[in-house]
Order: sequence, then structure tokens, then C-alpha cells
Amino acid sequence: MTGVAVDRERSAARIESDIEHLSGAAYTRSTDAIRRYAYTPEYRTTLDWFAGELESIGFTVTEDPVGTMVARNRPPGEPAFGVGSHCDSNRNGGKYDGTMGVVTALEVCRLDVEHELGLPLQLISFLEEEGSGFGQMLLGSRIIAQRITEDDLRERFRAVDDGRSFWEHAEEAGYEPTRWRECASVLDGLTGWIEMHIEQARVLQDTHNRIGLVDAIAGYVHADVVVQGRGDHAGATPMDLRLDPTLVLAETAIELERLARAAGRGTVGTIGEIEVDPSLINAIASSVRFSLDIRGPVDDAYRDVAAEIAAFAAHAAEARGMRAEYAERQTLPATPMDERIVGALEAVAAATGEPYRRMHSGAAHDTMCVADRVPTAMVFVPCKDGISHHPAEEADPADAALAAAIILEAIASLH
Ligand code: HGY
Ligand code: MN
Ligand code: MN
Repeated sequence: MTGVAVDRERSAARIESDIEHLSGAAYTRSTDAIRRYAYTPEYRTTLDWFAGELESIGFTVTEDPVGTMVARNRPPGEPAFGVGSHCDSNRNGGKYDGTMGVVTALEVCRLDVEHELGLPLQLISFLEEEGSGFGQMLLGSRIIAQRITEDDLRERFRAVDDGRSFWEHAEEAGYEPTRWRECASVLDGLTGWIEMHIEQARVLQDTHNRIGLVDAIAGYVHADVVVQGRGDHAGATPMDLRLDPTLVLAETAIELERLARAAGRGTVGTIGEIEVDPSLINAIASSVRFSLDIRGPVDDAYRDVAAEIAAFAAHAAEARGMRAEYAERQTLPATPMDERIVGALEAVAAATGEPYRRMHSGAAHDTMCVADRVPTAMVFVPCKDGISHHPAEEADPADAALAAAIILEAIASLH
């Protein structure tokens, strides 16, 4: 143990001040929610703020060839322990998802300097964790893990706002997507990685715990289904002459719920995005597109649901004389955390006397991609009533300060 006595009240005050600052108008594209994502001015301003804070405590700040931020207190090539998360947001985001993790990692760096612990640290803030810019979740960390192809970046991944490619946007923002393979070096030399994040559910709150030690992260399939119908007049077209794709959507949504419940073992299924064309009150839709987000801690369970719902949608469309096409967007496997690092966190958490528990993460995190090459763990803090991906998201800076002190001590114990 370091034996340092972290002033957690001071840490909580700094974390709260930073989070409030980063929810200001300069840092979000929306007045109703936190909305910041790759290659937007608000995201640039956010990264610049973190860079200023880290440089002021002696860290060297760089960005990888597409925009993931990396700050180190050791020369390149020397081993370091990784801390961080993401500071982009869901399009309807709250102040805490991701951002509280990067702010808490910044606090760990500040505490290391103030207590002169001399820990070798590398803070990472991953690009596009939410996928708000290009519809591709965990994009920055998947590029680092080389879990994408150049064709994805050049062609398949398109901006939600204007349909132009990731490649074009990255170049326009001054990055070098041609060097995307070099992003892998962000993880070079990391001796371990701990990400702090809000829980985004209500297990910690309802079990009266302040800290969650994540021992596994659910895997997921993201996909889209497009159903082609026939756009006719809503008033003049008799019911038995219609090819209405919204009916296939409705049947598929009910079936998805049934399949996910039947699969059990923590499997969940969600239709979050629905696009109806032409989306007019007096026109039968000519086509609908809907997204599928199917997850769980057991790979076979959620992957079977994805396969079954794809087949169901195709059959339901055919039975009505229409066609449904399923296209997978991406998938990542369920990811176990490293027991040595979880154990180090647990030893420190237990010593604090504060209530904590081990748990799974249903939400996806960049840690899933870091785990490919680096021993990883995550620390959760409660968020009020589990609300997240919503501006009403709320978390307690005092819990984040406790997490910072635990992470600092755990990293010290691993060196
Ligand atoms: O959706 C997720 O799992 C993460 O919050 N992006
Ligand atoms: Mn997040
Ligand atoms: Mn999120």
C-alpha cells in the first residue's frame, strides 16, 4: 500500500467542477443533452481541455492517427499503466457516461503527481465510443485493436449527419487515416488497464454499494433490418391490397422480446433506431429500417437470438409478399476481466471499508478492445436509478473520488 491519505473531498470537488465545466455550451452540440462526437468543434474543445489539464501536470499529450487522445508521464516505449475511458457522448447523452471516467482518470494522474508516487501512467480517451458520429460503437478502440478493415474506414462507415465516409471526415479534421494500422501502438507497453465508468443500470444503487468491480463485459451484435414494402395511399388502398413494411417491424419487435426472454442468461434485445420512409401520416411506408442491439454475457445465447430474429424477419416479410434484408453492423464477444487486476482492486476496495460488489457490465466499453492485448478491469460507480444515455443521468462525484483513490492504490500495488 502507498500509505498516502487521499483527500477524497478535494478530489470530489475537482471531479464535480470538471464535469460541470465539460457540460457547458462550448462542449455540446445540444442545449437539451450532452451531444459531442468525433470531428465536431465541441469534441475538439473537449479534447483540448483535457490536454491542457494533463500538460499542466507534466504529461505529454498526443493523438493517434485518427484522434484517440493519449497522455503519458513516461517517454514513448517505456511501460506504463493505462487509465481512461471516452469523452464523446450518446446523441442524447448525460454529463457522466464516459466523461466521468476520463475525469476520474485525470484525477488519478493529479493524485499521483501531488503525492509524488511516480507511477508510470498513460491516460487514453478513445475516439467514438458511442458511435454518435458514424453509427459504429467503440470505433476508436476497435481501430486500435485492428478489429476493422480499411474498407470499413474508407467505404462502409458513413457519417450519420451527411453520409460521407469516416475516411473523408478524418482527413478533413486533419488526421491521417492512411496510418490507421499504427493506432495499434497506443496499447504498446501497457502493463495493465483500468477504466472507471458509471454503471448505467441500478444494481449498485439498489444493493447500496458505492463501487462495482466488473469481472466480465457482455458481448453484443449490432445489425440493421431493411424491409421493402410498397408505398401506397393510406386512405385509398384497401387493407388486403397493402404491402406495409411497418407490420413486419411490429411482428419482429414482439418476437425479439420473446426470443430474448426465452434465451435468458442475461440476454437482452433492443430495437433503438427506426426509420420509416417516407414517414408521412397519409402514406403507407415504402420501406422501414430498424436497428438490432442484442447482447449478453453468454456468446451462444445472444448470437442465437440474432440469427433467429434475422430468420424471423425474413420469413415474416415473405409471408406478406415483401422482402427483409438483415445486415450485421458489428459484433464483439463477451469479455472477461483480468483476475489479477480485479483482485488488486478488490483488496483496496475492501480496505476502504466502503460497500462494493463484483458484477458484470451489460453496457459495452472500450475496455473490451483493450482486453485483446492488455490485462484489464473496470470500476463502476452508481448512477441514479440507472438512468443513462439520457440528459437526466446523474452520478455522485464523491463515489468517483472513492474510485480514483482505489484505482491509484491498486495501480501502486501492482508495481
Ligand atoms: O451502448 C453501450 O453499451 C455504450 O454505452 N456505448
Ligand atoms: Mn460509456
Ligand atoms: Mn454510452
